Amino acid sequence: MDSMAVSRWCDARRETYAARGAGQWVEIADPYRLRMAERDAIADRCARFNLALYRFARARTDPDALSAFASAMGLERRDRTLGADRRGIASVRVLRNTPGPEMIPFTSRALNWHTDGYYNAPGQSVRAVVMHCAAPAASGGETTLLDPDLVHAAMHEQDPLLVEALAHPRAMTIPEHEAEGALVRPARTGPVFRFLGDPPHLLMRYTMRTRSIRWRSTPATARAVAALEATIASLSAHHVRVRFEAGEGVICNNVLHRRAAFVDDQGARRVMLRIRSFEPVSNE
Ligand SMILES: [Fe+2]
Repeated sequence: MDSMAVSRWCDARRETYAARGAGQWVEIADPYRLRMAERDAIADRCARFNLALYRFARARTDPDALSAFASAMGLERRDRTLGADRRGIASVRVLRNTPGPEMIPFTSRALNWHTDGYYNAPGQSVRAVVMHCAAPAASGGETTLLDPDLVHAAMHEQDPLLVEALAHPRAMTIPEHEAEGALVRPARTGPVFRFLGDPPHLLMRYTMRTRSIRWRSTPATARAVAALEATIASLSAHHVRVRFEAGEGVICNNVLHRRAAFVDDQGARRVMLRIRSFEPVSNE
C-alpha cells in the first residue's frame, strides 16, 4: 500500500475502536450447527476487532465440536505442526519428561506477547488462531489479547518511520533451530508488519522474547522495536483480559496475545485446545 492508503487504513481502524466492544461474548448453542446469527456475530467482531470471545453451551470441550466450529468459520487449512493431531488441534498443557529442549508453551510459565507461528515459512503464515479452554488451571493462566491493527495505527500516528522500519523484509530473524545436531527449522527472516490481500489485512509477525531472535542491525530498527514494546503497554485500555473457563475461547485473526503463569493441581490441570489456520476468519 502507498503511504496515503496506509494513513487511511490507520484512521479507519482507530475509528472502529472508538466504539469499543471487543470484549463481548458470543454464545454458541451448538458448535456442530452454527446459527446464522452466531456466525454473523463472530464474523462481525473479527472484522472489527480481529477477535471474538465465544462460549459453547454446556461448556463443551470435545475436539470434534471445536473442529466443526472452526470449519464453519472458514478455518479449514490448518497448520499441523507442533503437536497438532489429524484435525490440526494441539492440546497445550504442561508436558513433563519430554526429550529435547523445553518449550515454554508446554510449561506453566508465563508467555510474553507474541503472534502465533512467527517462525513459520512466509508461505505458511498463520492467519487465524482458535484457543479453546478444555480445563482452566487451579489458579492463574489468564490470557491477554491485543489487536495488532491498533498497535500499527498508534505507531504510524507517532511516526510513520517506525512502522516502515518494522515493515522491512529483513526486520526480524528467527535463527535456525537445531536439535541433537539435526536442523529442525532453517532461519526465518521477514517483516513484523505486512499487508496481505484486498481489502488489505495486516499480518503481524512478532515475539517479545529476547532470546532466539535477531533484529536487523540498524538504529531505525532498534528505535522501532523499543517503540513497539512501549506502544503495546500504552494500549492497555484495549487489552482484552480473560481467564477462560471450560468451554470458552477466542477465535481471532492471529492477534497479539500473552499468557500469565499458572499453577496446576491434581484436580485442575490447565488444557487449552489450539487450532492454527492459514486462512483468516471468514466474514462472508
Ligand atoms: Fe500463542
